[in-house]
Amino acid sequence: MTSGGTMQGLCLLGWAVLLGLAGACPEACDCGEKYGFQIADCAYRDLKAVPQGFPGNVTTLSLSANRLPGLPRGAFAEVPLLQSLWLAHNEIRTVAAGALAVLGQLKSLDLSHNLISDFAWSDLHNLSALQLLKMDSNELTFIPRDAFRSLRALRSLQLNHNRLHTVAEGTFAPLTALSHLQINDNPFDCTCGIVWLKTWALATAVSIPEQDSVACTSPHVLKGTPLSRLPPLPCSAPSVQLTYQPSQDGAELRPGFVLALHCDAEGQPAPRLRWHIQTPGGTVEIASPNVGADGRPLPGAPAARGRPRFQAFANGSLLIPDFGKPEEGTYSCLAANELGSAESSVNVALATPGEGGEDALGRRFRGRVAEGRGCYTVDNEVQPSGPEDSVVIIYLSRGGSPEAAVVAGRAPGQRLPGLLLLGHSLLLLFLASL
Ligand SMILES: *[C@@H]1O[C@H](CO)[C@@H](O)[C@H](O)[C@H]1NC(C)=O
Ligand SMILES: *[C@@H]1O[C@H](CO)[C@@H](O)[C@H](O)[C@H]1NC(C)=O
Ligand SMILES: *[C@@H]1O[C@H](CO)[C@@H](O)[C@H](O)[C@H]1NC(C)=O
Repeated sequence: MTSGGTMQGLCLLGWAVLLGLAGACPEACDCGEKYGFQIADCAYRDLKAVPQGFPGNVTTLSLSANRLPGLPRGAFAEVPLLQSLWLAHNEIRTVAAGALAVLGQLKSLDLSHNLISDFAWSDLHNLSALQLLKMDSNELTFIPRDAFRSLRALRSLQLNHNRLHTVAEGTFAPLTALSHLQINDNPFDCTCGIVWLKTWALATAVSIPEQDSVACTSPHVLKGTPLSRLPPLPCSAPSVQLTYQPSQDGAELRPGFVLALHCDAEGQPAPRLRWHIQTPGGTVEIASPNVGADGRPLPGAPAARGRPRFQAFANGSLLIPDFGKPEEGTYSCLAANELGSAESSVNVALATPGEGGEDALGRRFRGRVAEGRGCYTVDNEVQPSGPEDSVVIIYLSRGGSPEAAVVAGRAPGQRLPGLLLLGHSLLLLFLASL
């Protein structure tokens, strides 16, 4: 049985090779040679799938004006030498990952006038020979920022008549050979995220036809406004400043105190905040807010029994109730909007005087801790905080890092009411000995 099957397989393979040598061609297509190109013409055939049985040396394949509903993985595995692939005027909705990646020699690809909303952009990374890419008149809503990163030879890109709301800054930057770009007739959302495109379009040598139709669809007040005449929008990339607040100002810290960090983020549009917390037990990512103003978990936040370990409030505060050894680590606040992102971090360590935690700060600190109790900053910043001397808060700028320079440049200990400004710094909290 098994050997019979194998024999049959070998026979089929033998036939396939013979047919290939004889210049096989799928029944639905015409294959032939013209000007040294091996051409397979399967246009206008009512095809619902990519036919199989092409000679392996086909360089031009036309499947235009058929009824293909999609391009599955491996659709063109038979014809890896294709240089031109024409697929316009089909009913393609999905181009699966692995459908196009084999076509490393492809120079021209026409997918226009289809219904594509789901496109395996990563396949383009392998098409480094591509010179012409037509994807106009489809239903694309989104282009990943790195979609075109490998298309160094691309001269013409057509994305007009799609459903693109925006294009990420830098999307066209890798296209160093580009001379023609069509992006008109997309429903562009004219917010801060698209301002770069106006600036770029005005400055670039790439020809962008139909500029009056490269226009806003939203917001309502800008509907129909060409991007080239977009009025200035108030836009700025985020900046963040991280501050902390020891639990009850001036009180002794006891095990289980509340540590409050505050992330003050500016930017237009208002940045989204995230906390990234690295503790000895692992990394915690929190999309802020995860609690309401009352400290209760928001619906949809990962279910936590009782009070969450980290409470991220909408106003930018992060409260860590029951701060203890397991909560030691690096706390980073990340702010992002359409124009960029910014980040600020603080290292928080907890030590009981005399138990060696100060070693982390090295010799310089140990010298000072002997001088007395109070609120210290290393690097000649001493801020006695009054008589509540069982709590020592140390603020150490990291020597040599740019952040350290910024911190040092500020007036030492510049205080917001009850808050101390931090760059990348180490915040060492001492517990009162019990
Ligand atoms: C392609 O292969 C066929 C045989 O399968 C051969 O007749 C033809 O000359 C080849 N064409 C090119 C351009 O190599
Ligand atoms: C990408 O193209 C190269 C030829 O240029 C080929 O060897 C490789 O297998 C292709 N990658 C995929 C995922 O098909
Ligand atoms: C933010 O809100 C929380 C809860 O309402 C509050 O405890 C905290 O003090 C607020 N932070 C600032 C900086 O106002």
